[in-house]
Amino acid sequence: ARITLRQLLDHAAEHDYGVPAFNINNMEQALAIMAAANEVDAPVIIQASRGARAYAHDVMLKHMMDAVTEIYPHIPVCVHLDHGNEPATCMTAIQAGFTSVMMDGSLKADGKTPGDWDYNVGVTKKVVEMAHLGGISVEGELGVLGSLETGMGDKEDGHGAEGKLSHDQLLTNPDEAVKFVAETKVDALAIAMGTSHGAYKFTRKPDGDILAMHVIEEIHKKLPNTHLVMHGSSSVPQELQDIINKYGGQMKPTWGVPVEEIQRGIKHGVRKINIDTDNRMAMTGQIRKVLSENPGEFDPRKYLKPAMEAMTRLCKQRLQEFNTAGQA
Ligand code: G3H
Ligand code: 13P
Ligand code: NA
Ligand code: ZN
Repeated sequence: ARITLRQLLDHAAEHDYGVPAFNINNMEQALAIMAAANEVDAPVIIQASRGARAYAHDVMLKHMMDAVTEIYPHIPVCVHLDHGNEPATCMTAIQAGFTSVMMDGSLKADGKTPGDWDYNVGVTKKVVEMAHLGGISVEGELGVLGSLETGMGDKEDGHGAEGKLSHDQLLTNPDEAVKFVAETKVDALAIAMGTSHGAYKFTRKPDGDILAMHVIEEIHKKLPNTHLVMHGSSSVPQELQDIINKYGGQMKPTWGVPVEEIQRGIKHGVRKINIDTDNRMAMTGQIRKVLSENPGEFDPRKYLKPAMEAMTRLCKQRLQEFNTAGQA
């Protein structure tokens, strides 16, 4: 069944678990996530970015969501817009059947310029007012994702803040978070504490200096009833880096967010954990392996099937680690 983010995260808060939000762009990723949720009896959040909507088409996404809920009627699925950049993007997602949208006003609509307070509150509040009329949930974001090591925003994949950011911008201020939630009435709040999107988050295993989990604890103390969201939460496992590099890839050494840090976050109000990069790596590793071991192969199913299975394993592991398993 399709459910809203509010329904799902309220249940998660009541039962002390977190819910991974996995990104999809195609049928293989949707099926892989659902197979994992089904195997461990977990609810799940499937999210699509603006890039995913452009890649797959809204009509295709809409029917894929209908298809997966028809195939797995007993699995609660929240269909969420990841990083909506303006109110119109959120409204067209709702028209396409999404049950939840993110209005990311931490950046202006260009996806590069940090949004100031009035801008962020203004666009987020507008989306909440409209979405709530139709029973749709809204995630907002306060603070800009980026590295505390370098001070740089996300830039790797062409979206994210441009140039140097201050620690004030990179770390969500707990008192401002209280005001932001009161003014906008968001259902869930994404916060910034040193993570960034993509594979290259940290140049070493992160400690409290570069992954500021204490910010989450402070915000949770002041906002015990607000569902917190961690973006950039891929763990970038060494095994996946190794498979990619073993079969011709060239990923530089890197670190992601350790699962135990996410588990600590879940103890302090984190309910939605965004993961895309780990699944991209899981699939790509298998595709590289099959093609390099079988250079004569040209049937896409021969590499997409193992790619899906690797993604299912990753998703299943996170559903177990975040205690989502068994909650469907
Ligand atoms: O925001 C980051 C997600 O990983 C989605 O990435 O915008 O390349 O689809 P994307
Ligand atoms: P990763 O790049 O760490 O998987 O983060 C995904 C994300 O935050 C999507 O919004
Ligand atoms: Na999101
Ligand atoms: Zn994100």
